[in-house]
Amino acid sequence: MLRKFRALFFLVPATVAFAQQPSPAPEKPKPPPVAEQKITVSSVHVDGPYIALTFDDGPSEKLTPRLLDLLAQHHIHATFFVIGENVAQHPEILQRAAREGHEIGNHSWSHPNLAKISDDAVRSQIKRTEEAITGAIGSRPVLLRPPYGSLTTRQKHFIHDDLGYEIILWDVDPLDWKEPGPNIVSSRILKETRPGSIVLSHDIHAQTIQAMPATLTELEAKGFKFVTVSELLKLRTPVPPPTPKPVNAPTATPSPVVAASPNG
Ligand code: CO
Repeated sequence: MLRKFRALFFLVPATVAFAQQPSPAPEKPKPPPVAEQKITVSSVHVDGPYIALTFDDGPSEKLTPRLLDLLAQHHIHATFFVIGENVAQHPEILQRAAREGHEIGNHSWSHPNLAKISDDAVRSQIKRTEEAITGAIGSRPVLLRPPYGSLTTRQKHFIHDDLGYEIILWDVDPLDWKEPGPNIVSSRILKETRPGSIVLSHDIHAQTIQAMPATLTELEAKGFKFVTVSELLKLRTPVPPPTPKPVNAPTATPSPVVAASPNG
């Protein structure tokens, strides 16, 4: 009797503790709501070997013209996400980039973490830069890349819905700002880039510019075609539904793919 009582005594606190625990968290984080997924773009689905190279944080007085020379040699159009302060210093570099067919996007006035400043300050960062770009090249930017890729969900909505920007992130990041050496920058880009990729790098680091001749040549050799981000968005095709894999399909069934592909 005493034994039974003791057992019960020890059980009770454990049961109470268990009952007080919150319901267990789901094993996988929930994907963001559909509206939020659509509002930023990191890469797109395309039917073709199209990619967009993007260069952030310029224009740089010394490096951006060197990059423009190289891109012109390769007949490649890229997208430059520029900082307003730098545009104000070198509008002529932006004019050249636009004249040579590159796209210009907004990357804020002074590169703050937009998620950590007020809505008014965010609007000011974006609008001031928009005016500087428009003043230099005569057309307003329609793409925005937030510094550090950092925006709150609410900011994403007002930048998209009220200020009229597509918010562009990236899926290929060589971490070139850490200056790992041109070979590493190049090999990271070559390893990660696939059709529909948006490649991030920075035209304010000498190593990035040094990495580009080999990177461009190798990407060309792989068959990639270079377009601006706005062109890439226009080339976007719907993601096909996942092809169902037959479970326990009889092994004797001939594969229609093999049968229909005499050319391999
Ligand atoms: Co940046």
